[in-house]
Amino acid sequence: MHVAVPRETAPDERRVALVPDIVGRLVAAGTGVAVEAGAGTSSLFPDASYEEKGAEVLKSAAEAFERADIVCKVQPPTLSEARALREGGAVVSFLQPGSDLELVRLLRDRRISAFSLDLLPRISRAQAMDALSSQATVSGYRAVLIAAERLPRFFPLFMTAAGTVPPAKVLVLGAGVAGLQAIATARRLGAVVRAYDVRPAAREEVKSLGATFVELELEAQEGQGGYAAEQSEEFLRRQRELIGTEVAAADAVITTAAIPGRPAPVLVTADMVARMSAGSIVVDLAAESGGNCELSKPGEDVLVGEVVVHGVRNLPSSMPMHASFLYSRNIFEFLGLVDHEGTFSPDFDDEIIAGTCVTHEGEILHKPTRERIDGGSS
Ligand SMILES: NC(=O)c1ccc[n+]([C@@H]2O[C@H](COP(=O)([O-])OP(=O)(O)OC[C@H]3O[C@@H](n4cnc5c(N)ncnc54)[C@H](O)[C@@H]3O)[C@@H](O)[C@H]2O)c1
Repeated sequence: MHVAVPRETAPDERRVALVPDIVGRLVAAGTGVAVEAGAGTSSLFPDASYEEKGAEVLKSAAEAFERADIVCKVQPPTLSEARALREGGAVVSFLQPGSDLELVRLLRDRRISAFSLDLLPRISRAQAMDALSSQATVSGYRAVLIAAERLPRFFPLFMTAAGTVPPAKVLVLGAGVAGLQAIATARRLGAVVRAYDVRPAAREEVKSLGATFVELELEAQEGQGGYAAEQSEEFLRRQRELIGTEVAAADAVITTAAIPGRPAPVLVTADMVARMSAGSIVVDLAAESGGNCELSKPGEDVLVGEVVVHGVRNLPSSMPMHASFLYSRNIFEFLGLVDHEGTFSPDFDDEIIAGTCVTHEGEILHKPTRERIDGGSS
């Protein structure tokens, strides 16, 4: 089997799909690896480190694609990358098929087998390939560092000769993978942490990290596969009424609430932000999918008096070395599934393969995307 790794071309994307150590493991197992020159540079893996591990470093992505059975990427292929892929070849990345139907049509028409790691079924066998979780871990950690760096106050309790400083109060909304990592990181820095999630299962996890679970008089919203169910506007309205005081009392609010495939629920209103004390911050991890705070703009700070609403954009890319390290391991595990005795041959009876595959042999296998394309959505 041959794999190729191009340089990521999306603006501000610093990650790479395979790091040299994982390339070494693939090469040792008999897989040929071609890497575009400079692919690892922005995550601090120079070309020579790939060559040392047995990869072939080639001048252009097109050259690397020539022999590849499967191309490994972080971001979805661009249209020009999709045109450069070998007809009938394969690609694995975060594809988010609903966000670019023109790309999906092109992949279909070029008979590319396109696998999207954001569609990975959340079953235990798939855990080591779970790139959404690995990158959410980076985001949760990083969000707390942003808050700690921006707050005009300490996170921990300090008792000094010059006086006692109370710990920062952090509120985490959404206690999934990113939220739990945010709680753990804020606790390590000494903050007092309160957290809320609509899934009852989150209560014990929050408590086990030394945070307080905020009890709201709302019914549970447990959906399928460990995710939250989509909530009604009436539920969200009541949630906002109940959470307002918690938000106003916090020095830092970190929001991570999401519903798979749906816009993020609005949990924090402009009015709540206006009630926060001067110097406080909201870090919105859902800013790119609509925002948990109604004021968030991805990649921007919005100032409300002396309160900052920071909408994040591609946070994992801001820690490219370890984000790539984890992502790379996810890809390695996925490649193990499509490699049968050295030959690229995905088994479409496997629910992980079937679940992640968007296009294959000229067909769109991902039903929601197929229905949108057949229904004439652009
Ligand atoms: N392989 C596996 O088995 C596997 C892998 C990863 C995650 N999971 C499970 O899925 C859970 C969620 O995963 P995720 O972090 O990717 O989820 P996610 O990114 O889709 O959502 C983040 C969190 O937001 C919460 N949320 C949604 N609406 C909310 C609201 N109105 N108010 C407050 N919180 C709200 C969700 O319940 C979730 O915990 C995990 O905690 C875990 O239990 C399982």
